[in-house]
Amino acid sequence: MQNKVTEGISFLSALVKNPPAALVVLGSGLGSFADSLENKIVIPYGDIPHWPVSTAPGHAGRLVLGSLDGMPLAVMQGRVHYYEGYSMEELIYPVRVFGQWGTKIYMATNAVGGVDQALSPGDLVLLTDHINFMGVNPLRGPDTPDWNPRFPDMTTCYSEALAEAAERAAGELSIPLKKGVYIAFSGPSFETPAEIRMARTLGASVVGMSTVPEVIAANAMGMKVCAVSCVANYAAGITCDPLSGDEVIREMGKASGKLVSLLRGFFREVSRTNV
Ligand code: HPA
Repeated sequence: MQNKVTEGISFLSALVKNPPAALVVLGSGLGSFADSLENKIVIPYGDIPHWPVSTAPGHAGRLVLGSLDGMPLAVMQGRVHYYEGYSMEELIYPVRVFGQWGTKIYMATNAVGGVDQALSPGDLVLLTDHINFMGVNPLRGPDTPDWNPRFPDMTTCYSEALAEAAERAAGELSIPLKKGVYIAFSGPSFETPAEIRMARTLGASVVGMSTVPEVIAANAMGMKVCAVSCVANYAAGITCDPLSGDEVIREMGKASGKLVSLLRGFFREVSRTNV
């Protein structure tokens, strides 16, 4: 893994000299944020050594290097998921590359089902914590303290300072932003109503099939993490309607303008307050 990461860093550092301040991951249907960057360099995932290529609908599969109001960012238009058949190691490769290169912030966005019955499609939820219900951990493997530490603390997995920046940005833009706990299932089947009732009992507010492995890896590498979910649907069993991937893409398309504005405001706050 270490050698592969070194190759990834060599490839990217030939394009831009310094590591970007943040790695941003755009979930299903949210790719448009990258269009607003200045001085863009667009790289198809397939061109980057060892980079996993997304096969899920709504995931463009491009890395965009550029800047937003002078802040250098790396934006992933699309991610890969465990349910696509990738190993955990492959899944967290992008986080490993940027974390090792020196990028300090990991900002994730994703589409979720609303488990908390007070949530509706279109709501944005700032994650305060997660439940890893995937049954696997991305750090499983040899204990290499300077590289893959065995027992990293996860008490404040989601940076309070970054969460405050997101809340300030949302307040200034009058974008309602709720808070919640994400539970990750491995997918690709949607959950059953009984699983959703269990998730609610366990304290989850939203459910998805991504994000948690990368957040664990980013924390282990000392990156500060922030994550915002967009509710695409009521989780299984809340209404009588069947769930579908098409519905997720459609709802994310509707909410993407709001989330893109929030991301822009978030990074303005981050650079203003030097978080
Ligand atoms: N469950 C899991 N993942 C999801 C959902 C859901 O209901 N909606 C969007 N991603």
